[in-house]
Amino acid sequence: MNKRMVVLGSQWGDEGKGKLVDLIANKVKYVVRFQGGHNAGHTLVIRGDKTVLHLIPSGILHDQVMAILAPGMVISPSALVKELDQLKQKGFEVENKLLISDQATLLLPYHVALDKAREKEKASQKIGTTQRGIGPAYEDKIARRGFKFGAVLYNQDIETDLKEVLDYHNFVLQNYYQAPAVSFDEIKQELDLIRNRLHSKITDTTSLLHQAIEENAAILFEGAQGTLLDIDHGTYPFVTSSHTIAGGVAVSCGISPNAIGEIIAVTKAYSTRVGSGPFPTELIDETGQFIQKQGNEFGATTGRPRRCGWFDMVMAKYSAKVNGFTGIALTKLDVLDGLPEIKICVAYQYKGEKRLTPPNHAVPLEQCEPIYETLPGWQQSTKGIVEWEQLPENAQKYIKRLETLVGVKIVLVSTGPDREDTLWLDKTICQM
Ligand code: GDP
Ligand code: IMO
Ligand code: MG
Repeated sequence: MNKRMVVLGSQWGDEGKGKLVDLIANKVKYVVRFQGGHNAGHTLVIRGDKTVLHLIPSGILHDQVMAILAPGMVISPSALVKELDQLKQKGFEVENKLLISDQATLLLPYHVALDKAREKEKASQKIGTTQRGIGPAYEDKIARRGFKFGAVLYNQDIETDLKEVLDYHNFVLQNYYQAPAVSFDEIKQELDLIRNRLHSKITDTTSLLHQAIEENAAILFEGAQGTLLDIDHGTYPFVTSSHTIAGGVAVSCGISPNAIGEIIAVTKAYSTRVGSGPFPTELIDETGQFIQKQGNEFGATTGRPRRCGWFDMVMAKYSAKVNGFTGIALTKLDVLDGLPEIKICVAYQYKGEKRLTPPNHAVPLEQCEPIYETLPGWQQSTKGIVEWEQLPENAQKYIKRLETLVGVKIVLVSTGPDREDTLWLDKTICQM
């Protein structure tokens, strides 16, 4: 039993991280979102009731959980307040269960305006971002012109400093993109939300986590996006702007890499991707449409249809190496019900050669052709099955084959969106 655990996506996001975090956070003291912002959309379904979270960690609905937004995040005050209000309307009072790192970076309206203007200008070359301002907010942080939440508390001149940065961005917006300027009023509203609503939640989460680790408290680190969207290790430039991988936990939270514990890969039983970029196993045919429909593959944040394809073992092995997974949570098995056959991409064909590792660049990756192994499908429904013996034999074979090929233990299989639709294969790794 490990008191610390990372849950992150091993593919291109939307693997079912929200469901898993909610499922295993019942004895956890802290759930920490370690990167990204409201580009994420994490869905929890509890006895039929669906909640989608964007910034707030997915363990929040458990009474004992304290939720932490880590230094590595970019946070829009208005998006956070909107999410808190939506939860309140649903009867979830979580205001006192949320802490924001004083080192987290502010995501402001000019970031959103820049994200939208750039995507519009790039037209067919666009990244297909969520248009939430994530890239521009991280750029400002790295350029050291960003604003940390702590600055709102401690920097007396923050309004003057913000006006300067706003001027700089408005110059680009108006002169380069021919886009409307952002008014200072919009920025002021964000500051007011922090001062009036979020102020008491801003704290030194780094020291808090150091203390929690010393006390051996149970901490769950929740990733957003997925490994293949990592800024350095994903399919650049079709990636997000943060470190989505396990190493990102230490960097984003200010804790030792030794303190991380178990690293669980949330992995779909097939592949999806939303936005542009290479996707070797993409199915632009009826099977792709079948998976999209059965899996309800539409973005939880933007509503965009997700591109669908077969399971990519080349990427899965790469992801396992990059992260050092200690277990896999295999999700959405039920979506494959009814397919006559199921394919696993076991290698790529690139310029006449067989490759077992993905090229590190989008251009050659676009040119990789998948080499498939074909397994028979199953015609029975697996929806809601919670016992291994009840799974159709071909579903069991598919799961076992995936496990053997990746070389990482599958600890659970998810057979539906609900918390209850979960088949445990090894509970010990996820016990905290
Ligand atoms: P996240 O971003 O990784 O948290 O995943 P999303 O919430 O964006 O997308 C996953 C979607 O699949 C959500 O609609 C979930 O409710 C749903 N889901 C999760 N696990 C399963 C499963 O095992 N089967 C089915 N059919 N749906 C699932
Ligand atoms: P969760 O946490 C899937 C994708 C976008 C785009 C790229 C860059 O729900 O799994 P960004 O807005 O981050 O600059 O967009 O990353 N993307 C996601 N895809 N799930 C997500 O989050 C994503 N967050 C961003 O579609 O391709
Ligand atoms: Mg999602």
